[in-house]
Amino acid sequence: MKFFIDTANLQEIRDAQDLGILDGVTTNPSLMAKEGITGEENVRAHYKAICDSVDNNVSAEVISTVYEEMIKEGESLAKIDDKIVVKVPIIKDGVKAIKYLSNQGIRVNCTLIFTAGQALLAAKAGASYVSPFMGRLDDIATDGVALIQQIVHIFDNYGFPTEVLAASVRHTMHLLQCAEVGADVATCPYKVIVGLLNHPLTDKGLAQFLADHKKAEDAAKVMG
Ligand code: E4P
Repeated sequence: MKFFIDTANLQEIRDAQDLGILDGVTTNPSLMAKEGITGEENVRAHYKAICDSVDNNVSAEVISTVYEEMIKEGESLAKIDDKIVVKVPIIKDGVKAIKYLSNQGIRVNCTLIFTAGQALLAAKAGASYVSPFMGRLDDIATDGVALIQQIVHIFDNYGFPTEVLAASVRHTMHLLQCAEVGADVATCPYKVIVGLLNHPLTDKGLAQFLADHKKAEDAAKVMG
């Protein structure tokens, strides 16, 4: 299973990269805005800085919603760095853009997926990734993990190479549920990734090991 971090914050990206378990980054226009990145040149420079901080796979989203503009923007984003994956929303012009960009050898992440039908269309068009937003479904009392499971099942039935990238992952339980149903990738905030570490018995056990070690070392020193 691949772990992506869902942020445009360079420090968080570098911290996750330092852990040695990061496989990629996803951003979206809201995440870029949160970092105060505006203006085409600044946006491009920020994507380049993200690409320079990780080994591969940086999703950069198009703003356009019209086919001709989407493909122009997608091609331009892809030129920033080989690590860029162009993120395209699942709308009619988006499906056409996925087909065009994929045929050009540009990897596409199809975003804002809320149904298995949308995922199927994106896979048919050649998307490298589909991003079902599980947290936003859970927000409206709809089972997000069931959607991930359904898409994994459909793609397995037909051997689609498109990877299921679980998105809108809000907590560690979501991340584990994605792993259980076979999502290829989960993209989540830094706190969710490091949240996997937490257990009070780990903290208690480590404190006990270190205390016992110190006691034994101190006793040995007294014995001379
Ligand atoms: C995915 O690529 C999106 O950037 C993201 O996961 C959305 O998450 P949210 O619903 O927490 O905003």
